[in-house]
This record gives sequence, C-alpha cells and structure tokens, in this order.
Amino acid sequence: MSRQAFDILAPHYDATFTASRTGSYLRQRARNRLYSHLKPGDVVLELGCGSGEDALWLAQHHIRVIATDASVEMLRLTRAKTAHTGLVRVEQLELDNLPARFPPSDADRTPLFDAVLANFGPLNCLNDWRPLADWLATRVRPGGIAAFGIMSRYCLWEIVWHGLHGNIRHAIRRLGGKAQFRVPGDKPNKPMEIHYPTVRRLERDFAPWFRRVGLMPLGLALPPSDVYPVIERRPRLCVRLMALEEWLSSASWLAQLADHYWIEFERIGYGSP
Ligand SMILES: C[S@@+](CC[C@H](N)C(=O)[O-])C[C@H]1O[C@@H](n2cnc3c(N)ncnc32)[C@H](O)[C@@H]1O
Repeated sequence: MSRQAFDILAPHYDATFTASRTGSYLRQRARNRLYSHLKPGDVVLELGCGSGEDALWLAQHHIRVIATDASVEMLRLTRAKTAHTGLVRVEQLELDNLPARFPPSDADRTPLFDAVLANFGPLNCLNDWRPLADWLATRVRPGGIAAFGIMSRYCLWEIVWHGLHGNIRHAIRRLGGKAQFRVPGDKPNKPMEIHYPTVRRLERDFAPWFRRVGLMPLGLALPPSDVYPVIERRPRLCVRLMALEEWLSSASWLAQLADHYWIEFERIGYGSP
C-alpha cells in the first residue's frame, strides 16, 4: 500500500528530492504556472502534499492551504514545516478512499476552493481518476483550477538512459501504463502500484466538470530523479539542460515525453453543459 511506502520514504524525501538542484528547478516551474492562476487570499486544496514544501511556499505568498496526504510521516513533516504560519491546515486524506464530507470540521459548509494542486505524482497512485474528478467537482469553484504534476507514460530520458545502460526492464517499465515499485526496507508490504495515465485519459475522466486549459512538459530536457546526481556533478551541463527545459516548456505536444507533465483543468461553470 502506498501509504506505508511513503512513510518509509518521508525522512529522506527532502534531502534526496526536494533539496536537489534539479528537483527545486522543476518545482519552481510548476509553481510559476500555478501562481499565474492565483492571488493573495485564495484557498488551495493540496492533494498528496508530501513534506509540505509547496504548502509552505503558497502560505509565504499569502495563499491559504489545506494540505493533505495519506502518509502519516509526510503529514508530520508538513506540520513541522508549516507550524509557524496560520495559513496552512494539515489533514489526512486518502485519494482512493475519499470521504463524503471534507474537511471534517467544516461538515456543514464545504468550502469552495480556488485551486487544487497535486504535484509530482500523487495521482499516479490511482488507477481511475473519475471518482476524484467527481469529488472535486463539488469542491472547486466555477473558474477554479485543478493542476497536477503527473508521471508520464513515455519518459524519453528513462527509455534512452536505461536502454543505453542495458537495463531494458527499467527503460520500458512505464510503457504498459502501470509498474510496480517496492521501497527498499518495505519488505512486508506488497509493492506499490504506479499508474501512468495519458493526457487523453485524464481529460476523459475529468470531463464533463473540468476542461483542460494547460499542458507543459516537466522534466523533458532534465532527467528523472534517479539521474539527478549524474547531471548535478556537471554544473555547466545542468545549466544548459535547464535553459533547454525552459525553451521547451511551451511545447505542450512533447509533454508526454517528459518525466512528468503538468496539466491544468478549469472547473466549468455549474450552469454549463
Ligand atoms: C512523490 S510524492 C509528492 C509529494 C509532493 N506533492 C511534492 O511535490 O513533493 C507523492 C505523495 O503522494 C502521496 N500519496 C500516495 N498515494 C496517495 C493516496 N492514495 N492518497 C493520498 N496521498 C497519496 C504520498 O504519501 C506522497 O506524499
């Protein structure tokens, strides 16, 4: 089950991913896109918030956040990181077991969120996105944004890098649409299942409540996280790849070849068909 796996990953998550030069750069690209839809005072629901890095950043930009995750250990990190700001509220929420009433203590008046965020893969832990879209439809205001960073199915870097290193299984692992992942040290539990939805599949599951308004590659010139250390040892290469990443960011047609794609939906007005 993914919750236990992320409990094990939590203590190292910031050191291995959040604080990496490449991870921070890609995160900032996603934030810029999200922030272009927001203004101070807005309220954001974050799904799969991990260690709370984006919740903290949003609060620093005067956005209120309800930060949620399934993993107790990730929530512990988020609480610690955001305890000093009154703008972040932390709640446990499992995407595959969505409660009828949320947030729990606002049962009589569910707030309408200005945006929903799930960055760097929380939605890859689902195999059907329709129930989530249905649930979000009553929680996002008309014109509000749902923005997701999704691990894509056809990551070019992964295919080429691991293919050239003779690790064919790793090179092609995403192509069938799902893969199994076992966190080292998580022997007692079943491996975690990761799903790689296409843009078309998400568009279908989010219609008729949401329509796609944005798509951007995230990690097209830059590699997946297991290759970060290799490029980060070469600062000049790193800078060049970042410049290329920026240049390619408007090539939405290449988004599904990146490690992640960033996809934005807008909640259609309640009166619209
Ligand atoms: C790769 S991390 C991304 C964390 C964070 N969004 C970030 O940008 O760093 C994926 C997160 O999704 C959470 N997650 C996985 N499956 C979930 C589920 N079924 N319900 C809620 N959260 C889940 C994990 O606990 C983990 O914190």
